[in-house]
Amino acid sequence: MDKLEIHGGIPLKGEIRIAGAKNSALPIMASTLLTTDTVKVGNLPHLYDITTMLELLGCMGVESIVGEKLGVEINSGTIRHFNAPYELVKTMRASILVLGPMLAHFGEAEVALPGGCAIGSRPVNLHLAALKKMGADITVENGYIKARTKNRLKGAHIFMDLVTVTGTENVMMAACLADGVTIIENAAREPEVVDLACCLRSMGADISGEGTDTITVRGVERLHGSEYSVMPDRIETGTYLIAVAATRGKIKVKDTRPNILEAVLSKLEEAGAHIDIGKDWIALDMKGNRPKAVSLTTAPYPAFPTDMQAQFTALNAVAEGIGMITETVFENRFMHVHEMNRMGADMKVEGNTVVVNGKEILKGAPVMATDLRASASLIIAGLMSENQTTVDRIYHIDRGYECIEEKLQLLGAKIKRLPS
Ligand code: UD1
Repeated sequence: MDKLEIHGGIPLKGEIRIAGAKNSALPIMASTLLTTDTVKVGNLPHLYDITTMLELLGCMGVESIVGEKLGVEINSGTIRHFNAPYELVKTMRASILVLGPMLAHFGEAEVALPGGCAIGSRPVNLHLAALKKMGADITVENGYIKARTKNRLKGAHIFMDLVTVTGTENVMMAACLADGVTIIENAAREPEVVDLACCLRSMGADISGEGTDTITVRGVERLHGSEYSVMPDRIETGTYLIAVAATRGKIKVKDTRPNILEAVLSKLEEAGAHIDIGKDWIALDMKGNRPKAVSLTTAPYPAFPTDMQAQFTALNAVAEGIGMITETVFENRFMHVHEMNRMGADMKVEGNTVVVNGKEILKGAPVMATDLRASASLIIAGLMSENQTTVDRIYHIDRGYECIEEKLQLLGAKIKRLPS
């Protein structure tokens, strides 16, 4: 397994470009199952998860042509069977996103039931309950979700018990081809849900209310081909901003969208960052100062994102003062804390809160990544530490961050990949 070797203690400085959003690209790629026409998806990030989604579509017979410029043309007209195998679902939980569109368009879908993962149990009961309410016959047998519908799915009034991002996306995609109107209440308001709705609309769907907690979808008989460019990745953007703030540096992040990062930018300002924004860029300057500790609570958008919690925990490790970080979305998302304590951080987990007493500097150590965002936080911790850190199990990071060591090198970091 590859490792990353980091020599920390250097303030990061420079400019980087942000890639397309993974969490937007994945549902958009799954949405191509709603039409037999070709859909061209642009601004895709170079990530393992994107390759896994292409592999998943490909193993069912869907044809795709990968273009030169971060684009792919997908045509589901060639689909031969409707089975998303465990071998792929176990490597990427977002595979569940093929369930709704496949069922709505082809009347059947078999998708391996995703298991728990390092950050929590992560059930998909709400996806299944909503699709059942739309008339699907769903059973779970031998580790597989088996869904069928004889006729078109029916529009329904659906109240989501919890705010679920991929749950909202699955139901919204299925509702596009249902007979009648579907209303999704307590819907996720994440920008990636909005991006998916915009893509679906470009394919002929009739959707309104995305970005609010009530989404209305009027089903149509068919969707058509389209060309759509994925929005920038807000989590990648935030991760680089935090890495730079934590190392007391200065950065300009380009090809991003400041208006979807408000909760993160306001916490960075609280930490002492000077922030300037344009339509598609963000500049951050710590003016050489040590960050101040911040307290925050994660919750669904527009509140502070759980996918940025670990990175802020890393920043608090070297900040001035005590920061309290409360996680309300996932039950087990503090695995990075124990690794950072091995690097000399002073953190205590109390229930769903971690209390961080900032230290002037961390000391490098060998550490192990447990999930995607925890990996990013350990890299940040390594960048802030004196002497050497090696981060093991970095296959997690390659699932969600495009060329991370190259981008950090552009900012002056001493980081290199040690192949296994
Ligand atoms: C998505 C994101 C992930 C992010 C998360 C929360 C993608 C591909 N992934 O994951 O990066 O961390 O949103 O912002 O977009 N839940 C249930 N039953 C369900 C569905 C969810 O109990 O049927 C619970 C989950 O266990 C969790 C909470 O609801 O505690 C929110 O999860 P959810 O929004 O569904 O996360 P994902 O869509 O899997």
